[in-house]
Amino acid sequence: MNDTTYSYRDLSGHSKLYCEDVSLAKLASEFGTPLYVYSQAQLLDNFRSFNQSISKSSKKNYVSYAVKANSNPELLKLLASEGAGASVVSGAELLIALRCGIDPKKITFDGPGKTDEEITFALNSNIFAIDVESLQELHVVNDIAGKLSIKGPICIRVNPHVDAKTHPYISTGLSENKFGIAIDDSSEAYRIANSLPNIEIIGIHCHIGSQITDLSVFKEAAESIVKFVIMLKEEEHISLKHINFGGGQAVEYHNAIRHPLLPESSEANSKILSFEDITKAVMPILMESGCTINVEPGRSIVANSGVLISKVLYTKSNGKKNFVIIDAGMNDLIRPSLYHAYHQIVPLSLQINSSQNIVDVVGPICETGDFLAQDREMPVVDRGDHLSIMCTGAYGYVLASNYNLRAKAAEILVDGNSYKIIREREQIEDII
Ligand SMILES: Cc1ncc(COP(=O)(O)O)c(C=O)c1O
Repeated sequence: MNDTTYSYRDLSGHSKLYCEDVSLAKLASEFGTPLYVYSQAQLLDNFRSFNQSISKSSKKNYVSYAVKANSNPELLKLLASEGAGASVVSGAELLIALRCGIDPKKITFDGPGKTDEEITFALNSNIFAIDVESLQELHVVNDIAGKLSIKGPICIRVNPHVDAKTHPYISTGLSENKFGIAIDDSSEAYRIANSLPNIEIIGIHCHIGSQITDLSVFKEAAESIVKFVIMLKEEEHISLKHINFGGGQAVEYHNAIRHPLLPESSEANSKILSFEDITKAVMPILMESGCTINVEPGRSIVANSGVLISKVLYTKSNGKKNFVIIDAGMNDLIRPSLYHAYHQIVPLSLQINSSQNIVDVVGPICETGDFLAQDREMPVVDRGDHLSIMCTGAYGYVLASNYNLRAKAAEILVDGNSYKIIREREQIEDII
């Protein structure tokens, strides 16, 4: 996120962190903390860059947004106005995508455990395709479509057994993962689909994992899918029209923002691929299939548009560790606890001459696993200071919970020098 819409503005003696033209300290004082803030310009820039890059190969190719990454309706409306499609994984995500104006003909429904009600809703909504993940599901779609007297449009989610070389919890394309149908069993699945009276075969779907930094992984998956599509046509005489190539593009969590007063992370991930790198490598392979193509990224569209603002409640030291205890915890942002994910954490205000310290940044939740950073070098902060946890637009608010009966944060959208609340802070009375 080095060239993003978040930057420090230098004032006399100190620097203040801004989102576009709005001071984050001003938002913290107006709306309280913890507080999710998103940059409209960053979100739109990410979407437009990927969409332009993918549509170079054909105007029919497009980007769908994986709603699971962040389902705030205002963000969805912005993406809908840009012509984004949507990848949804529940009936509720489908409902919100439709309500926010996403074209049903650009919506696909993924996930290994769709209920009959969700499938009925998807079929009645006339979406582009249901991405079927098992033979049983294929038969259920056929039965429900039959009752509705329609043909159910499907892609089969094929699991190509490609190692995404990412965290095991976000790797989805290996044979031991629960997703999709193994590529070796997929010809049979298409043969069955082809024989079912109420199924319309649209195409093929694959998604091998998230936060992928290795280009060869995407190429391997693309080659394997295209080989399969060609084989299906030649040997089974089943022609596919469409490939949904999934998401998974990584984002830069390390050194998301740079400033001479901030320590640089030595683990900086230099391998982050640009949208252009990915499409240049993958689209020529996918286009050999003769299919139209969509991708369904979540993280790379929304992650670096968002930050989580939190206040330092206390600092303490036990001789072995220095703790910075803040008012945001694993209930607001679970990624560090769940995947040991790294998020850069920076003060909203940087003072010249401030010294550095090695600290654990921890939340208020009564769990040892409630940490946002461990053994992290950062500028010394004290009670009442504010911090920004960077690059938290994806898989942040959507994974928040009410654990310890804590209310969920508010969400703010910044556009230039204006801003608006896009989700009110939850009230304790709403949850008890
Ligand atoms: C089927 C599917 N498509 C797309 C995505 C979005 O992935 P990412 O946010 O890594 O781009 C996911 C996320 O896990 C997914 O499961």
